[in-house]
Amino acid sequence: MRTLYCGDVRSAHIDQTITINGWVHRRRDHGGVIFLDVRDREGLVQVVFDQDDPEQFAIADRVRSEYVIEIEGRVRARSENTVNKEMATGEIEIYGLKINVVNSAKTPPFPLDEYSDVGEDVRLKFRYMDLRRPEMQQKLMLRSKITGAIRRYLEDQGFLDIETPILTKATPEGARDYLVPSRTHEHSFFALPQSPQLFKQLLMVSGFDRYYQIAKCFRDEDLRADRQPEFTQIDIETSFMNEDEIMSITEGMIKQLFKNVLDVDLGEMPHMPFSEAIEKYGVDKPDMRIPLEMVTVSDLMGEVEFKVFSGPAKDPKGRVAAMKVPSGNDKLTRKQIDDYTKFVGIYGAKGLAYIKVNDKSNLEEGLQSPIVKFLPVDVRAAILERVGAENGDLIFFGADKAKIVNESLGALRNKLGEDLNLYTCEWAPLWVVDFPMFEENGDGELTALHHPFTAPSCSPEELKANPEAALSRAYDMILNGVELGGGSIRIHEESMQQTVFEVLGIGPEEQEEKFGFLLGALRYGAPTHGGLAFGLDRLVMLMTGAQSIREVIAFPKTQTAACVMTDAPGEATEEALKDLHIRLRQKPKVES
Ligand code: AMO
Ligand code: AMP
Repeated sequence: MRTLYCGDVRSAHIDQTITINGWVHRRRDHGGVIFLDVRDREGLVQVVFDQDDPEQFAIADRVRSEYVIEIEGRVRARSENTVNKEMATGEIEIYGLKINVVNSAKTPPFPLDEYSDVGEDVRLKFRYMDLRRPEMQQKLMLRSKITGAIRRYLEDQGFLDIETPILTKATPEGARDYLVPSRTHEHSFFALPQSPQLFKQLLMVSGFDRYYQIAKCFRDEDLRADRQPEFTQIDIETSFMNEDEIMSITEGMIKQLFKNVLDVDLGEMPHMPFSEAIEKYGVDKPDMRIPLEMVTVSDLMGEVEFKVFSGPAKDPKGRVAAMKVPSGNDKLTRKQIDDYTKFVGIYGAKGLAYIKVNDKSNLEEGLQSPIVKFLPVDVRAAILERVGAENGDLIFFGADKAKIVNESLGALRNKLGEDLNLYTCEWAPLWVVDFPMFEENGDGELTALHHPFTAPSCSPEELKANPEAALSRAYDMILNGVELGGGSIRIHEESMQQTVFEVLGIGPEEQEEKFGFLLGALRYGAPTHGGLAFGLDRLVMLMTGAQSIREVIAFPKTQTAACVMTDAPGEATEEALKDLHIRLRQKPKVES
């Protein structure tokens, strides 16, 4: 049986006889001496076999990459000139006494002992091999450390881990549901939970007052680097606490986690109103590591002859905004500006005007720009003044419906931050607060910005009178431009909940049918309550420096929400469909 992990052998074990288990990472034959690098989850160790024992030597000679072996050997110091400072086990090696081949292995689909640029589809198809790579092992081990630390923090604070159902009814979080047909209830479907939202609220009504769960959530939505169809939330709910208390307790959790796991002090987390985030950064999840800000200049542009600017300046839903890139003049070439113009096009922007400030004391000739000729000198001066321009700066402009300007310049801000490496710090957390209750979905209908159970910060009468202006008691934690978590104080009174449903166009019948159980619970003495949920995958992605949450999930789905390893989703047999009372609208095509 194993006595030590490969990666844990150190000088302190010299002269001990130990047993290791692992995979052959690399085998080198130096004529008469065979070196095996043996790997397990903790790392690599070098084992040496010489011909003193020809039988064992012959076995060591036969093993190949990824064979599974057990080795008994004696730890010894490496000679000075063979010490490897790069390896944790580089001061020692194991002199092999006995080798047992547990299993042989086919040649791996991609090399594991050196870096190779393998496509993600191949990595996902052979995920069990991909996960053998040390960096993947480290990411998943860190993930486990993170969930362990979170559980300990929450348990210490008196939170109870309570599971909620996976086969359930739709929970509206803004995505499509995954449906599961019921065999025992003809024509009926379960929905997989988009979050445990309603159940955790019901647990508060039941008196459990501090709940948490590391919960799987399912959302059928368009996938991106930070979205998966099934993902994990650190889900939290409390009773009798206000938003500041909830933010403080969960902020404490994230800070302690960073300190314990990464030895990082996150420092203060400022609170920023949603309106300020949109005004200055164009998005509700600003990356505060980037020192660029958008400034509204609509009021300066109403009368200019450049229609591209004067139109949106006069439109109540329009916006003209400027964003200064300090010393951008030298940093950005014409070609890069053209590329950024294409880039903002992805977000619907029709162009990207700019001014290069060569000499701010000369407003006639000191500004280089395709649009400056349309702007009177006093407007030029006012722009420079408003953005605080210095010689050498470059100012970008967006003019359109406010939504397009915000999204396009907001995305440009993130891109400039990355491309020009403008980051001023490594970690920039904040809370975004004072969200609107509702947003317009484009068809003139209102939808809940968070979810319909979020409490507004006004009375039901005020809410009904002017829903567009109502703010909610919601809060999001943002880290480096990623929405790490979000939550709110919930509605705990039936009348307020009904008012919100009404504003959302959900009539009494539909309310009863979809949320009757919640409304029922609110009638039986519901405490004030609130909570939030962090995206565990995003948290681990940030803490490991990964580029995508797929890198920190053992078995993720592809961009098209499939698993190429198991071939899920797959077809169902005729028999199974019959049991489920389902007939397909179209028979699957038989592949020839
Ligand atoms: P929300 O929908 O904001 O809130 O989700 C909370 C957090 O979950 C993460 N997240 C995701 N991670 C990966 N893939 C996805 N598809 C995905 N969708 C969301 C994000 C997000 O901040 N019930 C509420 C929480 C509450 O009010 O308590 C909820 O689910 O990090
Ligand atoms: P045009 O008059 O279309 O040649 O545009 C002149 C300059 O204004 C170019 O630099 C365009 O990229 C820029 N521009 C055009 N439309 C917009 C817009 N909606 N917002 C910002 N800049 C724009």
